[in-house]
Amino acid sequence: MDALALEATSGKKTTNGAAAAAPAAPAPAQAPVKRKPAKKTKKAVVFFEVEILDAKTKDKLCFLDKVEPNATIGEIKSMFHKSHPQWYPARQSIRLDPKGKSLKDEDVLQHLPVGTTATFYFRDLGAQISWVTVFLTEYTGPLVIYLMFYFRVPFIYAPKYDFTTSKHWVVHLACMCHSFHYVKRLLETLFVHRFSHGTMPLRNIFKNCTYYWGFAAWMAYYINHPLYTPPIYGEQQIRLALIIFLFCQIGNFSIHVALRNLRPPGSKTRKIPYPTKNPFTWIFLLVSCPNYTYELGSWLGFTLMTQCLPVAFFTLVGFIQMTVWAKGKHRSYLKEFRDYPPLRSPILPFIL
Ligand SMILES: NC(=O)c1ccc[n+]([C@@H]2O[C@H](COP(=O)([O-])OP(=O)(O)OC[C@H]3O[C@@H](n4cnc5c(N)ncnc54)[C@H](OP(=O)(O)O)[C@@H]3O)[C@@H](O)[C@H]2O)c1
Repeated sequence: MDALALEATSGKKTTNGAAAAAPAAPAPAQAPVKRKPAKKTKKAVVFFEVEILDAKTKDKLCFLDKVEPNATIGEIKSMFHKSHPQWYPARQSIRLDPKGKSLKDEDVLQHLPVGTTATFYFRDLGAQISWVTVFLTEYTGPLVIYLMFYFRVPFIYAPKYDFTTSKHWVVHLACMCHSFHYVKRLLETLFVHRFSHGTMPLRNIFKNCTYYWGFAAWMAYYINHPLYTPPIYGEQQIRLALIIFLFCQIGNFSIHVALRNLRPPGSKTRKIPYPTKNPFTWIFLLVSCPNYTYELGSWLGFTLMTQCLPVAFFTLVGFIQMTVWAKGKHRSYLKEFRDYPPLRSPILPFIL
């Protein structure tokens, strides 16, 4: 019932809806007037029609009638899955443009630049595997492989060295540090990280495992070799290296915890990370991806400790890879947040 209807029953119109000052004469008692309730004006919902075309061939794969305007891309993927059971939602990429970016699952149909007949393009991302499985496979490999070299299992070195141990204490320390690093990563994958993507293409696991497993074998072969020679500056060099390694491991863990705390459980929100009470996170003042900075520091420490060329090479390759990722993440932060702190660099303060 609107204000005007109310006022009409009292016989007085006011401009603001309040009754005007009434005359002194008392109004005769009146039976309450029964009125029909005002009709609620229903807003007509405009349903959408959605057609999904193959991004490569432009063939029509699916037509969805009467899609709610507030349907999300995730829901549209589920509807599409019903007609094409081989393409479960995680392997679908839905785009506005055949060569454009994939839309996010949480994007809402009516907020996209489409008419009431929306055309989307579909690409098959291939078989998917969960991120957790990927990380567990990637990190268990180096752990086990390194230990095989450390224990000198048969068929690696000459038979006379089978199951022998190195006489250099740095070799044992290096094994502890390497194992610690990967156990930490496994535990973080299981209990710390809150990933926003559930899956990744299955084929990536072969590439990633070749990288991690291959490098672990190459490094472990030389460090645990019976002819391995310890670092030139001896104990001093090893101690300094251990301090750098441990410092960076704690730093890396602190950043992972800080990133975890940015994201409420079950959500995919991405926020600007800021320093917390933990001093290891203060590096956020200068760097967008300090977990990569600390990761680099850990491997530099390990290189110094073992003084081994394959380790230095692994550190360099990891640094290049992490720099590429850090630059990408830094760019997304700048794009997404207008108030992003201007002093930050992607991975190395003031440099890179
Ligand atoms: N040695 C090497 O070659 C090498 C290479 C790469 C990584 N690593 C190690 O592996 C670790 C993990 O790598 P990563 O590439 O997955 O690191 P990352 O992208 O920094 O992500 C770490 C976790 O934090 C989340 N996260 C990142 N930024 C966030 C934000 N602004 N708000 C909320 N959550 C956020 C990520 O969620 P999302 O799922 O949304 O990304 C992910 O769960 C690295 O820190 C490093 O220690 C080593």
